[in-house]
Amino acid sequence: MLTASVVLDPAAVVAPVSRRTFGSFVEHLGRAVYTGIYEPGHPHADEDGFRTDVLALTRELGVTVVRYPGGNFVSAYRWEDGIGPVARRPRRRELAWHSVETNEVGIDEFARWAAKADVEIMYAVNLGTRGVQEALDVHEYANHAGGTYLSELRRTNGAPEPYGIRLWCLGNEMDGPWQIGHRPAREYGLLAATTARALRAAEPGLELVVCGSSSSSMPTFGDWEATVLEQTYDVVDYISCHAYYEELDGDRGSFLASAVDMDRFIGNVAATADGVGARLRSTKKIKISFDEWNVWYLSRFQQRPPETDWRVAPPLIEDEYNVVDAVVVGNLLISLLRHSDRVTAACQAQLVNVIAPIRTEPGGPAWRQTIFHPFARTAALARGDVLATPLDSPTYETARYGEVRVVDAVATHDAATGDVVLFAVNRDQHRPVRLAADLSRFGGGLEVAEAWTLTDDDLDATNTREAPDRVTPRPLADVAVDEAGVTAVLPRVSWNALRLRRPSGSTR
Ligand code: AHR
Repeated sequence: MLTASVVLDPAAVVAPVSRRTFGSFVEHLGRAVYTGIYEPGHPHADEDGFRTDVLALTRELGVTVVRYPGGNFVSAYRWEDGIGPVARRPRRRELAWHSVETNEVGIDEFARWAAKADVEIMYAVNLGTRGVQEALDVHEYANHAGGTYLSELRRTNGAPEPYGIRLWCLGNEMDGPWQIGHRPAREYGLLAATTARALRAAEPGLELVVCGSSSSSMPTFGDWEATVLEQTYDVVDYISCHAYYEELDGDRGSFLASAVDMDRFIGNVAATADGVGARLRSTKKIKISFDEWNVWYLSRFQQRPPETDWRVAPPLIEDEYNVVDAVVVGNLLISLLRHSDRVTAACQAQLVNVIAPIRTEPGGPAWRQTIFHPFARTAALARGDVLATPLDSPTYETARYGEVRVVDAVATHDAATGDVVLFAVNRDQHRPVRLAADLSRFGGGLEVAEAWTLTDDDLDATNTREAPDRVTPRPLADVAVDEAGVTAVLPRVSWNALRLRRPSGSTR
């Protein structure tokens, strides 16, 4: 049998687990908002029109922060269309996704939904067709306590307390030629810096995210980050990364290694940011907000419907995920956790219906896609600190990323409870791997509290309306623990999580 090993040390702390790693994204795109989070008249709709079944699944998923309102959508969005009496809100032509936006849901409704879902809001401002003034306006509306025109307008509209939004994105994917208002890095950098300074004048404690590249394969990747950060280094906290992965041309081996690309992407952006910091003689470190990541079958996506077809909430990019996709998503979370010293916010794109862990049917049920499960378990189990997880693993050759490890893993340690959690994937397509974790530096005496695996005999299996629980995590059977550590047999193509704890009454 293939074997892999790791030595874990409670002193080898990378960084605390950032709760914001478990973020998600709700864009006015397809059925994410309308018939996703919001569907008045649905049997499970609450008094505000929000689907309580989706709210319950959002809480179960463990989402902590949600980016809103876009995405590409935000780059031509007029936030004030979405406030005030709903009957008077304008219907607009929406150019990013070629749809009709009714504006029934705007910032007030979303803030109400976020409170019910118990998530923090990450708000993106429009730096595509708009600029400093509109960013200041939406900030005044959302965060100013009262006594000014826009804050009083919010109060009149039913929200006496400010929303206290701390995380603000300065536009979206401004490096992409598809983005409305796309502009060269230097121009965007200047606009982002001016906007950031103005927002800070209003509220110094905001956390601001400047747009990095929309993918590491963009021709401007690297130069974009350097140029934008040269303009904004002192006034922003984060630079964004976006990455989507899919299985292409039947190359499952490369797809399973997608996290290798994420690791390199994060490393390269961190190095670029540090290079700018060094040139500027700054001691500040720019953090990374990986605020769009997921599996997305982009190659199957039809960019736009016919010119005459303008619809409200058309079903768009509703990818159905299989077992392999779930293993890749679990592995991408391993990569994000591994980089917790740098990546302290991340958003899976997206939450409902649109490339999402939650699917709904209008008027019908909501269910968990396969990718729901590794996210939910990781969000629930990763606590305390991320530990360095130096792996010794067999390798295999991939077309896209060269030689990669068969096993990838990361561990967390909660000093308060003593729990040690090991998240691990086996990327081998045919063989199980025996993974041995040396835990002797924890002083022994740990027991297995829970051990889960997500795999299946049919790697193409999916969860559907008819069979919503076809793919779920199951107990990982082959686990043994002793004074030296824990050994587990990871099935072929699997995501796994093991939680070890001190037996109650143990004095160690
Ligand atoms: O998440 C879907 C889209 O992907 C977003 O609108 C955009 O920012 C990205 O290209």
